[in-house]
Amino acid sequence: MIEDEVQEQIESLADVLSQAKHAIALTGAGISVESGIPAFRGEGGLWEKYPADEYATYSGFLTNPLKQWAFFKELYTTLSDAAPNPAHYALAELERLGMLKSIITQNIDNLHQRAGSKRVLEFHGTTQKLECMSCGAVLPFSEEAIAAPVPTCRCGGVLKPMIVLFGEQIADDSLRNAQNEALLCDIMLVIGTSAQVVPASMLPVIAKSRGAMILEMNVERTLLSNDVADVSLLGSASLRLPRVVELVSDGIIPSGA
Ligand code: APR
Repeated sequence: MIEDEVQEQIESLADVLSQAKHAIALTGAGISVESGIPAFRGEGGLWEKYPADEYATYSGFLTNPLKQWAFFKELYTTLSDAAPNPAHYALAELERLGMLKSIITQNIDNLHQRAGSKRVLEFHGTTQKLECMSCGAVLPFSEEAIAAPVPTCRCGGVLKPMIVLFGEQIADDSLRNAQNEALLCDIMLVIGTSAQVVPASMLPVIAKSRGAMILEMNVERTLLSNDVADVSLLGSASLRLPRVVELVSDGIIPSGA
């Protein structure tokens, strides 16, 4: 795409956002790639090294927690080295400016919160908490808590990060809150997700069915690009989103115009 076209799309995105009544974002692994966390799918994706059906299923965790903890530990190491990138900060700034009501994220990396976003719905859970499979206790994540090959609770039960594994249900309140946001929004920014996993991939469909405009930002076209997205802005979120914020906060596109 030539630079003029990109600039035009960024300006119209800023314009649309400034007029939105209830803009929200749905984010996926792509927004955190430039923070040093590989995406799940595609070349170099996490599932290449750790096939999801072996390392990220609920039934697999129950039968062989040791194997899955090897993957989780590597994930925790990657996360501890990661920091929010300009795309995370741009979304936090849009919220601060009153132009973004919430973020529904499929990510479990806590980077939106670290960038300052306040209303973050963690659709696939979080790595920041651990849950005991026996007594149900919920513990905050710490290096110490996950030191053992298979971390356990004081009661002796196996601990599991509070992330949603394949074959596991999305928590009722997460599902309800995210669906409500999708029903309410008039703009949904869909950033860095391949939209291959349901029910998250249904959220843009729900929003669109209520008349919301779907604006996609991704380095490649996705399953949403043809029929669901009204606009697909191709390119890195960490390069594009800060430019949107710049336009809005420089008053070139006045907030709430
Ligand atoms: N900016 C924008 N998009 C990017 C960038 C970037 N800098 N880098 C990569 N992408 C895009 C990729 O092109 C891809 O379309 O981000 C998308 C990442 O897709 P996935 O790896 O499939 O991640 P995601 O959609 O978040 O996966 C959904 O699947 O395995 C489960 O639970 C896991 O939450 C995850 C869910």
